[in-house]
Amino acid sequence: MTREPDSAPNRFATELFDGLPTKYDLLGNILSLGQDRRWRRELVKHISDTSALGLVLDVATGPAGIALAIRSSTGAQVVGLDLTAAMLSRAKENLSKRNENGIVLVQGRGEQLPFPDDTFDAVSFSYLLRYVSDPAATLEELARVLRPGGTLASLEFHVPPAPWWQASWWFYTRIVLPTAGWLSGGKEWFEVGRFLGPNISQHYRNYSVPWTVSAWNKAGISGVKTKLMSVGGGLVMWGAKGSAT
Ligand SMILES: C[S@@+](CC[C@H](N)C(=O)[O-])C[C@H]1O[C@@H](n2cnc3c(N)ncnc32)[C@H](O)[C@@H]1O
Repeated sequence: MTREPDSAPNRFATELFDGLPTKYDLLGNILSLGQDRRWRRELVKHISDTSALGLVLDVATGPAGIALAIRSSTGAQVVGLDLTAAMLSRAKENLSKRNENGIVLVQGRGEQLPFPDDTFDAVSFSYLLRYVSDPAATLEELARVLRPGGTLASLEFHVPPAPWWQASWWFYTRIVLPTAGWLSGGKEWFEVGRFLGPNISQHYRNYSVPWTVSAWNKAGISGVKTKLMSVGGGLVMWGAKGSAT
């Protein structure tokens, strides 16, 4: 398995996300047009379907919204891992506000997880692959720590496929998002708003959904399913480690 040294994409993500935590939960919801919560519920549903669910890893956990949702819907112990200290400190506040002791926070990289093989009954990750330099190797690493039969599930933005919705999405991400970001969160959120649309488009030019499904398969995940959400603005994927039955 390839192990990378600290790389430019990590520096980029660290700088981007170190400045964002204060209004992240609210603004994340605005930036997804209020759809993010539905998408998260869909992701959590597939994690919850895993049999014998005792320990779950949530990678790129940010302020721990998904980790908290997994914990409350399954009762499993959850490890929330994220690259940036600022996001983890926001996550810590969110856990203590809810008196939540069943989630452990770990600082680390999705590309190089500090856990032995086959540790977790399920692994979730969201909005991660656009920030890593080698998505295929990162998927291998995520699958490595998942036990055979366990579920891998992900959430990511997507470009709506239908022409009308794609044109609307383009207008929203290129014009509305930067403006809304500026008005609600100042310069930092203007930069996020301006960056997000082109970054999503570029990601899918480099790594199409069929490419991504095939990368999941190569990482040892079978029965991979994809579900486009909200006219295709979001994408939830899931599958199980090991050969299809
Ligand atoms: C858009 S946020 C999503 C947070 C959370 N998953 C959610 O849905 O609210 C992306 C998160 O990915 C983290 N991140 C970026 N690159 C990462 C990497 N290589 N390994 C782990 N986390 C990473 C960032 O620090 C940030 O918290």
